[in-house]
Amino acid sequence: MIIDGKKIAETLRQKLKKEIIEIKSSFKSVPGLTVILIGEDAASKIYVKNKEKFSKEIGINSEVIKYPENIEEKEVLTKIIELNKNKKVSGILVQLPLPKHINKQKVIETILPEKDVDGFHPINVGNLSSGYDSKIPCTPLGCFILLKEIEKNLSGKHAVVIGRSNLNGKPMAQLLLKENCTVTITHSKTKDLKSQCNKADIIIAAVGKPKLVKGDWVKKNAIVIDVGINKTSDGIVGDVDFNEVSKVARAITPVPGGVGPMTIACLLRNTVECFKRANS
Ligand code: GUN
Repeated sequence: MIIDGKKIAETLRQKLKKEIIEIKSSFKSVPGLTVILIGEDAASKIYVKNKEKFSKEIGINSEVIKYPENIEEKEVLTKIIELNKNKKVSGILVQLPLPKHINKQKVIETILPEKDVDGFHPINVGNLSSGYDSKIPCTPLGCFILLKEIEKNLSGKHAVVIGRSNLNGKPMAQLLLKENCTVTITHSKTKDLKSQCNKADIIIAAVGKPKLVKGDWVKKNAIVIDVGINKTSDGIVGDVDFNEVSKVARAITPVPGGVGPMTIACLLRNTVECFKRANS
């Protein structure tokens, strides 16, 4: 079975759109999302454009602030502090990666945890890892929703997460732990990744290596979620060898059209959640 992330994301966006219509009639205002884009990274520009487009489509008040590559860190921090105070702004996102002279940690920590739609602030990271209510990073949240579409009860399942980034691998592992999965987090220094994957009921590949996960790495009937977006001479491919793995897996996400659309839909969801929290 191929997991249709595009369709599931569309359903989520439609649900949020309806919710925003109700919010508008009760509160006479709508959720607002401000995205800060620094520099000229081509992929970031595309992501930010899509974030803006889908925000507007469902009725979020979307704003993009663009800064040149050489902007001073201080100016960015001052803008974030201003946005923190602005009641019309429910969520703030600073697109990563940042230019080298800007301290990513400082930027993330300056965003109010209540407006941190990325779930990157240490308060949100800590809440998630303590099993408390938290903002959840958009990509792992998207993976999690897709997983739950296939399997409602994840308790006792063995999940192998490939990659330990703050954006994906670590929060993904926390979400799976919360669902009582047995979680193995693997990374570039893991020995014999194939044998780790062979034990998995669930594989989340978030490592950025084209077609790394092969058919004989995957247990029959495993669920495979592919977070990778790799540009190759064959076009965009994931971290999973789709042709091989789709023959053995019970369910698999395609690239493109799997996790990608879910990431943006979850950003919209987080923005609406931030608004509701701020107004409850
Ligand atoms: N760059 C790539 N993915 C992301 C994301 O989820 N959030 C932000 N802020 N930057 C990114």
